[in-house]
Amino acid sequence: MSRLNIKKSEKIITDDPRVAFFNRHAGSWDDDGPAIDSNLRRLEELRGMMGLRSGMDLLEVGCGTGQITPWLCSTVAPGRVAAVDFSEVMLAAARPKGIDADFRLLDICDERPIGEFDVALCFHSFPHFRDQAGALTNIVAALKPGGMLIVMHLAGSKAINAFHSGVGGAVGGDLLPEKHHWPDLLAGAGLKLDKLIDRDDLFVLRAASSS
Ligand SMILES: C[S@@+](CC[C@H](N)C(=O)[O-])C[C@H]1O[C@@H](n2cnc3c(N)ncnc32)[C@H](O)[C@@H]1O
Repeated sequence: MSRLNIKKSEKIITDDPRVAFFNRHAGSWDDDGPAIDSNLRRLEELRGMMGLRSGMDLLEVGCGTGQITPWLCSTVAPGRVAAVDFSEVMLAAARPKGIDADFRLLDICDERPIGEFDVALCFHSFPHFRDQAGALTNIVAALKPGGMLIVMHLAGSKAINAFHSGVGGAVGGDLLPEKHHWPDLLAGAGLKLDKLIDRDDLFVLRAASSS
């Protein structure tokens, strides 16, 4: 099995205030254990619908402290998982957990992850990308032809957007795009919408790379 070759960023160079926001919250990110367990149970139920299979190489974008990364690793094994995030404090919390994934510091709005992936997953992260079109372009550049993007939240877009507005500050304006904006946003990056579920307890978008 080949190791995925992900470019190592020495340092994140951005004035995005979200870096400081997520660095600040990283220390307490894993405090709610029961919520993590229930998220993992729901992901297991949704695995078939997500289209994840053994042998896929997977890019996790905005992995945080790696809460779902072990589940991703076991789901795609012997495929490999590369997990990227632009918060060095989130990654510093993830790395000692002994998860068999390649963790990398990377700003998805600025940099293309080097590698060829069957699937890229943005779990609870997409609204925070300050340049969503740029992030999609960088993700697609790292997908194999016909590779798949999944954007996923274990709540609907209405609740997610309201939650971020309530938190305010650096993430107060971080929204999932409205349904009618997705096709153009995806097409701009060479992706074609395959599935969009947006109900009270779930948001799942799947799109395939056309290149
Ligand atoms: C709400 S947290 C979710 C973390 C993790 N997926 C989870 O479910 O626990 C969003 C994550 O996206 C990361 N993020 C936001 N913008 C990013 C960017 N431009 N490039 C890489 N990571 C980013 C943040 O640092 C943060 O760890």
